Amino acid sequence: MIVAPSVLSADFGNLARDVKAICEAGCDLVHVDVMDGHFVPNMTIGPVVVSAIAKAATKPLDIHLMVENNTFFVDLYAPLKPGYITFHLEEEKNPHRLVQYIRSLGIKAGVVLNPHTPAEAVEYLLSDLDMVLVMSVNPGFGGQKFIPTVVEKIKRLKELRDKINPACLIEIDGGVTDNNIEMLRDAGVDVCVAGSYVFKHKSFEKAIESLKV
Ligand code: DX5
Ligand code: ZN
Repeated sequence: MIVAPSVLSADFGNLARDVKAICEAGCDLVHVDVMDGHFVPNMTIGPVVVSAIAKAATKPLDIHLMVENNTFFVDLYAPLKPGYITFHLEEEKNPHRLVQYIRSLGIKAGVVLNPHTPAEAVEYLLSDLDMVLVMSVNPGFGGQKFIPTVVEKIKRLKELRDKINPACLIEIDGGVTDNNIEMLRDAGVDVCVAGSYVFKHKSFEKAIESLKV
């Protein structure tokens, strides 16, 4: 399991310290939630703070856009050379074009599915994707309860992925803990995002280790 702690649950008064600490504790990616107050009913961080995260991180950034005007935000964050940029399929009129654009910048590209969006929605995009991120909570906030119907969706997505593009990673985001991680791995998850579970744990190292199933 590739582990991507979400810095949304970090101590923002000590952000650089926390970002360095999760990297030293063995995470694989640093998940950065960008919210604009329009696509989701919450706002998080902008370019000044994301730059500070990029500077502190010793692992690649995994930027999760929850915004309108995706291309504007891709252009804003591309200079930071993140490992991945993912955007919501529900918000993008021309997702195939945007995937190609992100990849043309030398960044891996992924699409995100809200809880209601079927796995089949990515069928004709899969051959060009590096990642599909399945939301297991409604986007906007950390610390929400895992929505169990997404497990069936992960299984369907895995079938499509194995057939069309086995190199594409399946990522899950929302309500992930050491209690459901094995079940998620068995369903087909390759990458887990975990915010409150990692940052509320006494030891980042132990929390990350417990997700590497
Ligand atoms: C929610 C964000 C998540 C969030 C996950 O919109 O995309 O990345 O931080 O938080 P937990 O792991 O606490 O559910
Ligand atoms: Zn996220």
